[in-house]
Amino acid sequence: MSELLQQYEALASATLDKAQSLPFKVYQEPSVYELEAQRIFSEDWVFVCTEQELPETGDYFALTLAGESLAIVRGQDGQLRALSNNCRHRGTPLLDEGFGKVEKNIVCPYHAWTYDDQGKLKGIPFPGSIPLEKEEHCLPEFHLDTWMGLVFLNLSDHPLPLAERLQGLESYTSVFEPEQFTHASESQSEHWQSNWKLAMENGMESYHLFKVHKETLEQITPSKESFYVAGCTEWAVTGGKIKTGTSKFMKWLAGDYPEAYDHYLLLSLPPSMIAIMDYESFSWINILPVNAEESMIRSGYLTKKNYGKEDKTSKSFTEAFFAEDKWICERVQKGMQSRKGKGGKLVEMERVVVDFHRYLASRMFEAHSHDFFESEKAEIFKVG
Ligand code: FES
Ligand SMILES: [Fe+2]
Repeated sequence: MSELLQQYEALASATLDKAQSLPFKVYQEPSVYELEAQRIFSEDWVFVCTEQELPETGDYFALTLAGESLAIVRGQDGQLRALSNNCRHRGTPLLDEGFGKVEKNIVCPYHAWTYDDQGKLKGIPFPGSIPLEKEEHCLPEFHLDTWMGLVFLNLSDHPLPLAERLQGLESYTSVFEPEQFTHASESQSEHWQSNWKLAMENGMESYHLFKVHKETLEQITPSKESFYVAGCTEWAVTGGKIKTGTSKFMKWLAGDYPEAYDHYLLLSLPPSMIAIMDYESFSWINILPVNAEESMIRSGYLTKKNYGKEDKTSKSFTEAFFAEDKWICERVQKGMQSRKGKGGKLVEMERVVVDFHRYLASRMFEAHSHDFFESEKAEIFKVG
């Protein structure tokens, strides 16, 4: 194992009291990213979009994940499938990346082999006299599962069920009755010149709010009112106070948790999701690596039915703090080129980042593959 990977392993597996930033090179080295693509993005459940984004027959979302070209397609039977997006003839990518609609069939742009929206090969132009079994040339399928309207993919052949992967998380999400979040809105994807781990770490910690988001998030959810709730190798939950989130609607919903309507929970679910949840909405951020130093970022939210038209103020607010995060992540990515630069200690407010590092250690390094830690249970909301 290279020296860099040894350092990565040692720092990622460090306990809270010894925790430091990871070596800067692991945010830049293509060889490290290649290993992460194999050991994380080809093995774990990866959040990629929401069910609400693909409401009708033929709707698709095509993307590249760990080098694999995939298309999530809603078939005639109403089911979502994660189909290989490579033609069974010579491998040409079939559908263009992004969201789109399959009009009746998927037709390869090379020699026009034609598949239906469930991946079955329907037709071959000029087949000639050499026999070809159509059933043997269907598009392979990958594992897809959903949770609260969120679509997850898993590229491995025999994944652990998604529900098991998320075990324990529901006791934190259920207080907000997420089954009522049926109305959706989402943003265009953005490209950040930032390693995916850097964008994840930035998304999960509330330490930077008072500085980077001084005029935006800090006004509503101040750094110093954020707190750690619970974490394990698989996910982490932090929380905080919402200063202006006291709409009538939220008060009405307070129900059995009157102390909770002015709080949010932040869920960190590696490798690709950060979400903020309160009584009104579930806002998600999706972070997918493009290469070692670039990520594709998308955000959106699920909210209650009849909540009303999309609110322009909240949209421009989200855009503003997103621009701040992009700015700081790209700035840090540049800073990491420093030859003498070395990661420093993580502070208590970054405890959730330590949980993420332990996740990385468990997926990346054989010696830590059975590590499982769970923090002591904390109260979901601090009262007073
Ligand atoms: S590669 Fe698709 S039809 Fe030839
Ligand atoms: Fe931020």
